[in-house]
Amino acid sequence: QSLAAFNTFGVEATCDNLFRFTSEQEIQDWLAGMPIPPKEFFVLGGGSNLLLLGHVPLTFLKADIQGVDYQESGDEVLVTAGAGVNWHDLVLDSIDKGYAGLENLSLIPGNVGAAPIQNIGAYGVELEQLFVSLNAVDLFSGEKRVFEHEACEFAYRDSVFKQRHRGQYMITSVTLRLRKKPELVLTYGPLSALKDRCDELTPADVSNEVIRIRQSKLPDPQKLGNAGSFFKNPVISKKAFKRLQTNYPEVVAYPVDDSHMKLAAGWLIDQCGLKGYRQGDAGVHQQQALVLVNHGDASGRDIVQLAGHVRDTVLAKFEVRLEPEVWIIGEQDIF
Ligand code: EPU
Repeated sequence: QSLAAFNTFGVEATCDNLFRFTSEQEIQDWLAGMPIPPKEFFVLGGGSNLLLLGHVPLTFLKADIQGVDYQESGDEVLVTAGAGVNWHDLVLDSIDKGYAGLENLSLIPGNVGAAPIQNIGAYGVELEQLFVSLNAVDLFSGEKRVFEHEACEFAYRDSVFKQRHRGQYMITSVTLRLRKKPELVLTYGPLSALKDRCDELTPADVSNEVIRIRQSKLPDPQKLGNAGSFFKNPVISKKAFKRLQTNYPEVVAYPVDDSHMKLAAGWLIDQCGLKGYRQGDAGVHQQQALVLVNHGDASGRDIVQLAGHVRDTVLAKFEVRLEPEVWIIGEQDIF
């Protein structure tokens, strides 16, 4: 089964099987009907945070569950969306209905079901700030399970579904808490320019600005294969940061807590002169060095090879090790 159409890097890849489901019941019935349930699953979302390598010897499952439901209560509204709902469609729909909260997360590729897995975040907002709960099916037992906020163990681009429960659950729907009265978050770099007009701005205005910024530096996967930021922004101790700053006073970083700083990995890569760098069809994006792109016929391996070169170059120059943000699937420990 080809996965070329199911990954935004647009690389050729195959898997053992691919099954698609449109309801929770369908998944449970399918699991119950299997004589020996397979233990090696991969749950596919929008394929926008994956790098697939050759043949992936797993059974792929995809939740195409649709539906969006809003429940108002006081100043808040709870929105529950099916795992297969396109994330940006949900953002636009909620803004259209006059609800606030998702505007900073506009135009993130992928589906609702994948959003909690990597705790998607952008422009000063992370999903976990709005998250209430999710419904999932345990693929090993066939049982339904509700995960409240705490059980998800959210962290920066991370959750329990990337760690201990990797491959075990299929998320079927997600519930988020939105507001009727906006509390705009305009703290992040380029959005702070809007602060002076804060009182007159609507969530739709912020959403439009986020869309404009994203379109100016992040490539459209329909035109140029990519999976957004390839690496995480590395978190280092304040002490290590001070050392780095002595040699590189311009280094771009944000405070995490009293003793840690998060470095802009894009800046590190850019400073190595790698913006626009290519190895065949695998390249570093010209407008945003943290994004690796497929210029046409790159394979998963070509992109991993380029990523290795980027990581090694940054390590040699700054003594900072970049870790991938995308999921590299197909061969363990290749990176
Ligand atoms: N920068 C450079 N050169 C570059 C890229 C970045 O100098 O080529 C510097 C600039 O100073 C810039 C700063 O790095 O101001 C930060 O860049 P940007 O605002 O583009 O954000 P980022 O830190 O590179 C993170 C997320 C993005 C998210 C943006 C906005 C990660 C790994 N990435 O990128 O998320 O959209 O912030 O919040 O945390 C994704 O996860 O796929 C993703 C795109």
